[in-house]
Amino acid sequence: MTTLSGDMNVLDVRVGKVATAATLQIVLATTAGKLLSNGADYMGSEAKNVTKFIKESRPSVGDVVHLPMPGRAKVCAIIVAETQTEATLEALGEKITKLANSKDYTAVTLVIETFGLNADVVAAKLTYGMQFATNALSMKSDAKQDVLKKVYLYGEELTSNSAAATAAIEDATHNAMGSILMRTLIQLPPNVLGTRQLLAVAQGLKKYNKDVKVSVKVVKDGMNFGAMAAVGRVSNQDSLLIEIRYEGDANAPLTALVGKGLVFDTGGINLKSNGGTGMKGDMGGSAMVLGTMFSAILRKEKVNLIGVIGAVCNDIGPDAYRPDEVLTARNGTTIEVTNTDAEGRLVLADCLSYTEEKYSPVRMFSFATLTGAAVVAHGRRAPVFSDDDTFAADLVDSANAAGDMVAHVIMDDYLKPSLNSSIADTRNTSTGRMCGHTTAAIFLNKFVAKTPYMHVDIAGASDINGPGGGAFGVPMMLRYLTTYARG
Ligand code: BES
Ligand code: MG
Ligand code: ZN
Repeated sequence: MTTLSGDMNVLDVRVGKVATAATLQIVLATTAGKLLSNGADYMGSEAKNVTKFIKESRPSVGDVVHLPMPGRAKVCAIIVAETQTEATLEALGEKITKLANSKDYTAVTLVIETFGLNADVVAAKLTYGMQFATNALSMKSDAKQDVLKKVYLYGEELTSNSAAATAAIEDATHNAMGSILMRTLIQLPPNVLGTRQLLAVAQGLKKYNKDVKVSVKVVKDGMNFGAMAAVGRVSNQDSLLIEIRYEGDANAPLTALVGKGLVFDTGGINLKSNGGTGMKGDMGGSAMVLGTMFSAILRKEKVNLIGVIGAVCNDIGPDAYRPDEVLTARNGTTIEVTNTDAEGRLVLADCLSYTEEKYSPVRMFSFATLTGAAVVAHGRRAPVFSDDDTFAADLVDSANAAGDMVAHVIMDDYLKPSLNSSIADTRNTSTGRMCGHTTAAIFLNKFVAKTPYMHVDIAGASDINGPGGGAFGVPMMLRYLTTYARG
């Protein structure tokens, strides 16, 4: 499958080309037929008739009105609100790709202006949306390839800022590739994407940049990864600790990205009541690591990254780890297993202490589809947890700037005793029902000794039924890394 190697269909997006090469020309108009952007100029003497035609067809916002324009290529108007924002421009970009692919147009021209935004921002948002709508995963037997290949952004303000717009298009394209990779990985079914296939994806990153190194350990009982090994004990898939190193600038402060990579989560002996449908996406955290690193690598970003993924399958069977077991984690902490369905935190526990000890990063993130409580409490907004308020504020700012939804949640002291165990150092789940997303974060913090640490629970944010189809947070992380983690 091409998606596994990251070989994606990439649109060729350009600024300031004359429209005649396109098979579909798009202008923007209001429901009243008013031509926005440079649409009236573009239509020239036909503008009046076009306005009348659109108005008479009584369109709603979002409609596509095909215009009868003899002597021209196919022309249509997309009906939009008079003002546009970064978010609506991104959505417009997605709409254009879907429209072109559904109608077999290989090239489109979009007549566009800046709506009071900077030209590079407009180019970036449109491009991200257009690219993101490509490479949709379908395993239907009659699935169709993307046909759209070229997009021309045509308009005065973009042409006069073409250097900045072109650079923004390139960055946005690279950013979208990371999000597409994340979406694809989350959507792939568990019989296609096992732990070895996740490793293959990581190894695939090497071909994009010589500064990428990938290594792997097969984690088994007796290797001192007692928490992670227990979760994968029964599975016939190897539990893999995957390390991806990207030294875009060896002198930049090292940032660690740790991801939960549960290729499937049945719940284990505490079996999920629905058997686990939807849990193919339980490697979303590792997909976010891979997506972020893929984009950073494509951008040749001057950052220094270590990605660590715990790729495991939480399965059932006679040798499955059991409730009541006491495990010894890599850092010596003993853990009473109170629920085998709280497996992600066990995998992350060993990955976090390993990453901190081996690499001494200046900061460390974990990304994980960790708790149903995060979904109940915050929906599609991802709760983020850190005792370092500056770190948290910087991440929240990055998320806001990138259009990803997060909320900084406090790990209140009163919750801490709920993890106390009578037999071991800690339980893996709290007693009581309060704040399960927060008690999970408190648990993870027991495995980080001194590094500024940020946990991001993406259980709700990376839901495949959400607007990103599973993709979340790659734009936020790129914004964070380019703002705070460059050399
Ligand atoms: N992978 C799940 C969390 C999850 C739930 C992700 C819904 C996406 C959607 C995780 O491993 C899990 O099962 N968590 C348990 C923890 C509980 C046993 C304390 C949960 O949230 O129910
Ligand atoms: Mg679970
Ligand atoms: Zn899980």
